[in-house]
Amino acid sequence: DLLGEIERLEKLFTIDTAKLKQITERFVGELEKGLTNEGGSIPMNPTWVMSYPNGYETGTFLALDMGGTNLRVCQITLTEQKSEFDIIQSKYRLPEELKTGDADELWEYIADCLMQFIETHHGDTSKLDKLPLGFTFSYPATQNYIDEGILQRWTKGFDIPGVEGHNVVPMFEEALARRGVPIKLTALINDTTGTLIASAYTDTKMKIGCIFGTGCNAAYMEDCGSIPKLAHLNLPPETPMAINCEWGAFDNEHVVLPQTPYDIIIDKDSPRPGQQAFEKMIAGLYLGEIFRLIMVDLHDNHETHIFANQDISKLRKAYSLDSSFLSAIEEDPFENLSETAELFQSKLDIRANGPELELIRRAAELIGTRAARLSACGVAAISIKKGYETCHVGADGSVFNKYPHFKARGAQGLREILDWPEKEDPKADDPIEVLAAEDGSGVGAALIAALTLQRVQAGN
Ligand code: BG6
Ligand code: GLC
Repeated sequence: DLLGEIERLEKLFTIDTAKLKQITERFVGELEKGLTNEGGSIPMNPTWVMSYPNGYETGTFLALDMGGTNLRVCQITLTEQKSEFDIIQSKYRLPEELKTGDADELWEYIADCLMQFIETHHGDTSKLDKLPLGFTFSYPATQNYIDEGILQRWTKGFDIPGVEGHNVVPMFEEALARRGVPIKLTALINDTTGTLIASAYTDTKMKIGCIFGTGCNAAYMEDCGSIPKLAHLNLPPETPMAINCEWGAFDNEHVVLPQTPYDIIIDKDSPRPGQQAFEKMIAGLYLGEIFRLIMVDLHDNHETHIFANQDISKLRKAYSLDSSFLSAIEEDPFENLSETAELFQSKLDIRANGPELELIRRAAELIGTRAARLSACGVAAISIKKGYETCHVGADGSVFNKYPHFKARGAQGLREILDWPEKEDPKADDPIEVLAAEDGSGVGAALIAALTLQRVQAGN
């Protein structure tokens, strides 16, 4: 019966306190390993962002965000007032075909969007001095300099040939030059680094920047003395260096992460099997797909077939349900789950009966809860590595901002991992709080561009 199926799913997806602690312990070791010359699964990329902002940065900058879902262009003016800025922005759709198409088409499209933005806001571009740009390129990239980004591998379902292993900056700049776009790339950054810096601009307790969105990742400030792979540069050991962890790659070798049969299919059918093991259990790109795979499996393969004798062809389409579908199920306020029933009917042409609706809701809860609890392992691991007993963590992304209960479930996970005592006042702050971040790829990119220009002017 369906109760038996629910129990089976509960066993597969529940991550208890002991497991959370075990995962965190390995995570701490893997963060360390990524900083060594031998390296590990987690890239731990130095970003050449070498200070926090002090709130008094000034100047006007463009920012381009190529995150995953949208393309966004902003112009940010950092004003003389401490931690204040003005921003104008435009969003452009990133057509699905471009994510798996041709590299030239991608760069041309981006150059067009930038040109459009500049023409709208600056008029005649022919007499314009080149505007400094912070480019948020949110994929794992090797950087020997802040204005370089050698793509290590595509993530988040992107699969554009001829870019992996290459510096994306010249490709981008050539497209700008072909169109005469008056821009000078000053810094290439990751969305997590942007989030860290933008958050620290307004709250000095912010020590970690996280993205829980289409992808999942974090950045934090390390000391160069703790980065053996930079030892050859002889930087003073206390020099700060923001590290883009690329923690989505944690435990690609599956030593501690418990993989369900559904996770195995997600991985196998992705453009990069064997990569981004942690991300594939947490990020918004995959949550709806995990759910869809469960539903199809329960229709086809188990003793109690759900949606028996119904045409489930719509449900069979890979990646047809995004995380907002799960959000809607988890948000259904009605005891009889009537909104969920309507959703199944309208989106999938499936009539779900009472017990099936119960199972649907439980499956969504299990997937959402597992994601939030696992994400806490990463936050705990960085905090443990750095010895942060109290701090703020700035978080952004559609899952963090929109997925129901994600924050509370993550906070509960942290509490279990770090053995915090139960709070007497439920409203009191936790020692480590994960809070909504400032706009990383807008303000963060501008600040990093400003800090970079300051550093260049100072001659380091
Ligand atoms: C945005 C940030 O708010 O969140 C981007 O500005 C980031 O830099 C994005 O990439 C991540 O969220 P999602 O859900 O769009 O992947
Ligand atoms: C993926 C990318 C990473 C990015 C994250 C969030 O994990 O590899 O660079 O920070 O998604 O967008």
